[in-house]
Amino acid sequence: MFNRESEATKEFIIRMLRKRSRSEETLLFAKNFIQHPLMLGSLIPSSRFLIGRLLKKVDWARARTIVEYGPGVGTITAHILAKMSPDARLIAFEMNDRFVRHLARNFSDPRLHVVHGSAENVQQELDRLKLDGADYIISGIPFNNMRVEMRVRIARQIREVLNPGGEVLIYQFTRTVLPHLRTNFSQVHQEFEPRNFPFAMLFHCTQAATP
Ligand SMILES: C[S@@+](CC[C@H](N)C(=O)[O-])C[C@H]1O[C@@H](n2cnc3c(N)ncnc32)[C@H](O)[C@@H]1O
Repeated sequence: MFNRESEATKEFIIRMLRKRSRSEETLLFAKNFIQHPLMLGSLIPSSRFLIGRLLKKVDWARARTIVEYGPGVGTITAHILAKMSPDARLIAFEMNDRFVRHLARNFSDPRLHVVHGSAENVQQELDRLKLDGADYIISGIPFNNMRVEMRVRIARQIREVLNPGGEVLIYQFTRTVLPHLRTNFSQVHQEFEPRNFPFAMLFHCTQAATP
């Protein structure tokens, strides 16, 4: 009886601590949005509905090298790490230095490699890590707030670093990136997730177009 009660107390404390850490992350995210609204593109991290819809497309048994653009405070990163194979790797590119420090402090998983830099450096970084290419690229960076040349470059690099049969999962709050995805991929499937703030559009790209 005593044991069962102490287990329940322990679980309650763990739940409360998790809730507190989620609120702290939301606060850190919102504070950074006020300073860098264009870089972040949204006021709060992605909802669990958006994350669920995005990640259900991933074949975890096939995903050996996963690349994430714009992990922020690690909201999606945590779900990817929980689902990916023990021998898979996750390379996450984040421009915001506060988020990079937060990720370093809170994620000790050896499968995760955080790069403090832009998604534009993907090819150099994969070369440096001696990785052939990516099986999945998962991205939430705000294409709408970038100069068009940068959009073109990042979309082209996504196609170039993707392994044959690789897939791209992108969520956005506008359709600005869509023409760039259509230039680089012959299949772009679209979905909508209203249970997120702001409402999110999802793009699932397969079959890289031949350049
Ligand atoms: C909309 S937030 C998404 C955060 C998190 N993935 C989530 O779903 O809650 C976009 C993130 O992309 C980062 N970012 C913006 N431009 C970037 C770029 N060119 N390369 C890497 N990260 C970038 C921002 O700092 C921010 O953390």
